[in-house]
Amino acid sequence: MTSAAANGLPPTVYLDHAATSWPKPDAVVAAVHDALTRFGGNPGRGAYRMAMDTSRALFEARESCARLLGVTDSENLIFTPSCTFGCNLMLKGVLRPGDRVVAGGMEHNAVARPLSKLAVAGVELVVVPADATGYVDPDDIERAVRAAPTRAVVCMHASNVCGTIQPVGDMADIAHENGAIMLVDGAQAAGHLEVDIPALGADAYAVSGHKGMLGPQGIGLLYLSPDLDVDTLVEGGTGGGSSAIAAMPAERPDRYEAGTHNVPGALGLGAAAAYLLAKGQEIRAEEMRLVRLLRDGLEAIRDVHVLGPGSGVERTPVVSFVHESIEGDRIAFELDRRYGIACRSGLHCAPWAHDSLGTLVSGAVRFGVGFGNTHDDISLLLEGLAEVVG
Ligand SMILES: Cc1ncc(COP(=O)(O)O)c(C=O)c1O
Repeated sequence: MTSAAANGLPPTVYLDHAATSWPKPDAVVAAVHDALTRFGGNPGRGAYRMAMDTSRALFEARESCARLLGVTDSENLIFTPSCTFGCNLMLKGVLRPGDRVVAGGMEHNAVARPLSKLAVAGVELVVVPADATGYVDPDDIERAVRAAPTRAVVCMHASNVCGTIQPVGDMADIAHENGAIMLVDGAQAAGHLEVDIPALGADAYAVSGHKGMLGPQGIGLLYLSPDLDVDTLVEGGTGGGSSAIAAMPAERPDRYEAGTHNVPGALGLGAAAAYLLAKGQEIRAEEMRLVRLLRDGLEAIRDVHVLGPGSGVERTPVVSFVHESIEGDRIAFELDRRYGIACRSGLHCAPWAHDSLGTLVSGAVRFGVGFGNTHDDISLLLEGLAEVVG
C-alpha cells in the first residue's frame, strides 16, 4: 500500500505489517467511527438504551473474533489491551515459583521478558534453541519436557523475525502427554494463517489485534481453555456480577476484563474479524504470492542473505535479510529516504530469535508484507534495494 506523497518526499510504501498493519479495511474504520459516535455508553454498566446497545455490540464483536479463531464459547475469549498483555496474563496467571517451563528459542520479548522475571521469582526456565531457519524442533521440546516435571510449554506460533511457523499443535500434544499445558503467542499468526485455536490444542493463545488481524492498535485477545485456572493480573470494576463483592467475579470474560473496555478497539477488531472471515483466504493467498516474489528477488541480490525458511516452505509474510557488509540501519534509512519504503532494521524486540539465527550483533532488515501491498510495492523495493546495496 502506498500513501500520498507529502512535502516533496516519496509516498510511503508500507512494508512493516509485522509491527502493525496499515491501512485498515474500510469496515474497520467505519466500526471505530460507529463506536465513537453511536456506542457511547459504558458496556455492562448501565440499563439505559445506549449502554445496552454498546454491550450488545461488544458481544457481537467478541462472537466474530471467536468464529474466526474457531472458539465455540466466546466467553473464553478475553479482550486485552495487546498481545503483550495477553502473554503476561497467561504466563503470570499460571506459573508459580517452583514450576518448570519449557520455552521455544525464538520468543519475542512479550514472552521472554515476563519469563525472565518469573525466572528471578523462582520459576525454572528451560529455553530450547531453534535451528538456523528459526524452527523449533518438537523432538527437542519433548526431550526438554521429559527431563523433569514441567508445568507449561510456551512457544510462538510464527516468528516476527523471519516468518517461520512453529509446530505448536505437535508441541501441545507433547505437553499434554507429559502433564503440562501449552501456551502460545499467536501475534504473528492470527489473520495471516487460518487459526483454529482449540484444534491446535492450545490451553491459552494470545492474539494481537493490530497486526494480521487488521484491527486498531491497543486491542488484543486471549483465549483461555474452559478448564484452565488462571489468576487475574488486574482487578477492578467489571460489567455484570455484584459490585459489593471484593473478589473478581468467577465468570468469564468479566473475570479478566477489569476497567472500562476499549470499545472502539474491540468493535474495530470485531469488524476486522468479520472482514477476514469473508476475505481472509484471498488476502492470505496474495500475501504468499508477494512473499515468494520478494524472497526470490532478495536471493538474487549479491551479498544479501535471506533468513528463515527456504523457498517452498510454508511460512508467514515476514521476510528478513542481512547484508554481508552494509549495516541494516543504513539500508532501512536509505530505503525510506530514497523510495519511501517503510521497513524495520534491528532486533525486532526478539533478541532470543536473533541469537538463534546468529544475527544478534548485526540485526536484520525486515519486511512485513500484508493487506494492501501490491506487486508494484515489491518491485519498487527490489529495484531500490539493488541500488542501495549496489
Ligand atoms: C511474536 C510477537 N509477540 C508479541 C508481540 C506483541 O504484540 P502487541 O503489539 O499486540 O503487544 C509482537 C509484536 O511485534 C510479536 O511480534
